Amino acid sequence: MPDQSLKNAEKKLAAEAAVEYIKNGMIIGLGSGSTVYFTIKKIGTLVRQGLKINAVSTSGSTTDLARAEGINLISIDEAGEIDLTIDGADEVEKNSLNGIKGGGGALLFEKIVALSSKKNIWAVDSDKLVEKLGKFPVPVEVIPFGCERVFKIFEKKNLRPVVRRKGDSRYLTDSGNYIFDLHSGDISNAENLNKEIKLINGVIETGLFIGIADEIILARHDKVEILKK
Ligand code: 5RP
Repeated sequence: MPDQSLKNAEKKLAAEAAVEYIKNGMIIGLGSGSTVYFTIKKIGTLVRQGLKINAVSTSGSTTDLARAEGINLISIDEAGEIDLTIDGADEVEKNSLNGIKGGGGALLFEKIVALSSKKNIWAVDSDKLVEKLGKFPVPVEVIPFGCERVFKIFEKKNLRPVVRRKGDSRYLTDSGNYIFDLHSGDISNAENLNKEIKLINGVIETGLFIGIADEIILARHDKVEILKK
């Protein structure tokens, strides 16, 4: 099987396995991205078969898909506490289960939803599991006002920022902010780096998700592995 279709098959397998954790009556956090796409499609099928859930979305694209699938969406404030959030990830560190998220640009809402959830499950293909975080650049959401100053601070810290673009323009998040992707390489202490970045005035959120995932559902070829904290 070519690499891309193997990867997609793994994404689908992990994403659908995560749906088995959903019970009637739950409030579900819906992450964003090409893996969670399969989760939302599967939930849609179950909803049409009678499953009753409410869901909280983490992005415009997830909202559109969930609506098309007939999944009832409520706001995060209506939800209060979310029973279970299913999301994807760009990298997951094997031992700590810390991760990098935000490749799709939804890191801010994803982190807020995750922190409002009793349980967080990430569904990932086997390429996402790493010994050490950092090969995937760390996305950082930055408010546009004064963002050049923030960019220079990242440069001084040798974190190698790159402005995320969409076509000819800067990429804009659902909240109208920019993303700087930090190509810093191997991260020796993700928790400290997260704290250091968050202290910079103008930074809204980082894509470093520390101590957030409770379980990882990882698909390798046609098998599913569960990694727990
Ligand atoms: C979006 C995310 C996604 O979960 C992450 O980028 C993984 O995406 P995909 O499932 O498409 O590989 O954090 O902000």
